Amino acid sequence: MNNIEKLIKEIPKAELHCHIEGTLEPELMFQLAQRNKIKLPFANPEEVRRAYEFSNLQTFLDIYYQGANVLRTEQDFYDLTWSYLLRAKEDNICHTEIFFDPQTHTERDVAFETVIDGITRALTDAKNKLNISSNLILCFLRHLSEEEAFKTLKQALPFKDKITAVGLDSGEKGNPPEKFKNVFEAARAEGFLTVAHAGEEGPADYIWQALDLLEVRRIDHGVRCTEDEALVNLLKEKQIPLTVCPLSNIKLRVFKTMHEHNIKKLLERGLCVTINSDDAAYFGGYVVDNFMACYQALNLTRDDIIQLAKNSIQASFLDDAQKSAYLQKINEVVEKG
Ligand code: HPA
Ligand code: ZN
Repeated sequence: MNNIEKLIKEIPKAELHCHIEGTLEPELMFQLAQRNKIKLPFANPEEVRRAYEFSNLQTFLDIYYQGANVLRTEQDFYDLTWSYLLRAKEDNICHTEIFFDPQTHTERDVAFETVIDGITRALTDAKNKLNISSNLILCFLRHLSEEEAFKTLKQALPFKDKITAVGLDSGEKGNPPEKFKNVFEAARAEGFLTVAHAGEEGPADYIWQALDLLEVRRIDHGVRCTEDEALVNLLKEKQIPLTVCPLSNIKLRVFKTMHEHNIKKLLERGLCVTINSDDAAYFGGYVVDNFMACYQALNLTRDDIIQLAKNSIQASFLDDAQKSAYLQKINEVVEKG
């Protein structure tokens, strides 16, 4: 391991774009299937991994929603989240803001409460045993109606103290942010912060909509912002963070190769970009793997790595005192190395 690789691993980092259902490793999928007496259409975990070849976002989502079918009980959601947190610890993730998709589960008659109880029990354990802090973000599935999203928002209200923000995920094309304008307004009125996936497969206009109509604090992905110069300038001026997921972008063919990825250019232009794993079990890597892939293909420098780690803290929903404490820890690691 050279010095930069060591720094990538050791520097404290926040992860801000991680779908907890996307951290379901094939081995755990098999364990949960066995525990819940569910028959999988695969013989073993290796066969599952071989099936993970995607040509776009939708081909991934079809397999991803199928995988989530093994999640049934509170313990299943606990085990899923705890496995992710143990893995995050290895990468020196000090803070994580996790997405969950309640509709993927309530549609299968798994209670909202079952999902949130399992996830939050693991997050509490992570704070106490692993020293990882966290926030939880509820995502609405954008291929479903706004009416369905309203039902989900209502189900979330009794658990308001456990959920920091609402977001928007699933198939982007044909499901613009404007479709969810009213439900996001209602969510903001209830005190939730907002984020949205935009500009992954969808156009730059969807990023404008997310900002103007949903009043998001961050854009998830957002890499297609470069199609609109005025938008790039605004993202820079207002330091609106982009939670970029490099390996995901290659797997889902947003960019052909990592050499063509625009994250280094965005960083050099002064945008608040961050590196995240998206759906690590499906896209072949956690946060450090994503950093390494960018470092190798785009020649990220030591200063780039430090900036990306600091951005991840700045872009989080932590308060100023918590941010200062983590930034201080970053400086300590940097000065030591
Ligand atoms: N984009 C949209 N929806 C998703 C993703 C993604 O990258 N991952 C899980 N749901
Ligand atoms: Zn995502």
